[in-house]
Amino acid sequence: MSKVVLLKTGIELPMNGEMVYFNYFWLRDNCSTSWDRSTQERTFDILDESDDLHTTSACLKENTLNVIWSDGFESEYDLNWLERWHTGDNHGDLAVRTRKTWYGDHYPDMARFVYGDVIDNPASVADWAEAMLDEGVALIQNMPNSDEGLKVLCELFGTVRPSFSGYTFDVKSKANPENLAYTSKALELHTDLPAEELAPGIQFLHCRVNDAQGGNSLFVDATAVANVLKQTYPAYFKILTEYEVPYRYTTDNQDVRTKQLIIELDPNNGEVSGINFSQHLADVFDFSQREMDIFYPAFRKFGQMLQDAKYLMTFRLNAGECIVFDNHRIAHGRASFIKGSGARHLRGCYVDRGDLRSVYRVLRGRNPKPVAALQPSQKMQPVETF
Ligand SMILES: [Fe+2]
Repeated sequence: MSKVVLLKTGIELPMNGEMVYFNYFWLRDNCSTSWDRSTQERTFDILDESDDLHTTSACLKENTLNVIWSDGFESEYDLNWLERWHTGDNHGDLAVRTRKTWYGDHYPDMARFVYGDVIDNPASVADWAEAMLDEGVALIQNMPNSDEGLKVLCELFGTVRPSFSGYTFDVKSKANPENLAYTSKALELHTDLPAEELAPGIQFLHCRVNDAQGGNSLFVDATAVANVLKQTYPAYFKILTEYEVPYRYTTDNQDVRTKQLIIELDPNNGEVSGINFSQHLADVFDFSQREMDIFYPAFRKFGQMLQDAKYLMTFRLNAGECIVFDNHRIAHGRASFIKGSGARHLRGCYVDRGDLRSVYRVLRGRNPKPVAALQPSQKMQPVETF
């Protein structure tokens, strides 16, 4: 096998039967001495290096690559570490997991946790976070009937983040509603607040009382729908992953606007990671009129598929339950309820998905699952032609 080869811009070294290239700037930037040991933040400044940064010598010693730079500085790289970056394993990320899509019959199988258990047990929080990453939804039961209970639950994942409705919102019908949610009318399937530049990540809906007739919750795993769209209408899927759609939310004192992709892809593994879908908040589409010819068929087909009964999980949210879901992945709605038939009050708030992933990495790292439980059998669903 060849030895290390010094090139003008980098090094080639043998790795598993092939010559693998590493750039000089990348190597120098990521010398193990580049990070502060206590904060683990980078203290090295690659901007100060000369434009023709290069090595004067490099060699392999057992499991390391040893390099001497042109200014005499010496660096040492673990070959296993280099290989991980070559193969794309990088740091390794527990939070990058294959999503388990689900369908309309998911309610009995939905992950459930008890408030008192997750409050006292970090391993349960890791299990809950894992369910959120895999399935995008979980039910917390035996919630205390208090504002504080919801806050405590949210803070297991992260900081409650405000939306343009404030830190929390209360879903109950009221006079002069500024939002359809605050009426007794049905709410069509949507994701919350795509008009915000960073649409909310994880949504918590704590049911404080539900004595009304009707008002069932409607939830759809939009990744399941988008995956079928990708297989059956690939051109539509492509359009919905590329066209940025304008959304707008207005009140007397607010005019919030942004553009979002209808279907989002996970940069880590290419999976469908979520959607931005709300006909309530969709602004006037501003593509060229010729582009409308291709956009509307894709938009309409996907919206119609979202409403198909085979994807629709319908259930009644009861007092003392908190449904927690990925607002980018789960399209949610509500059947109408009979106004005056009984009290109905849901209190909601949001936490960022980045907080969820951070908590999962830390708590799962501290509370690993038994090896046998690492790869649970996944309920397989046949892919059907829509
Ligand atoms: Fe909503």
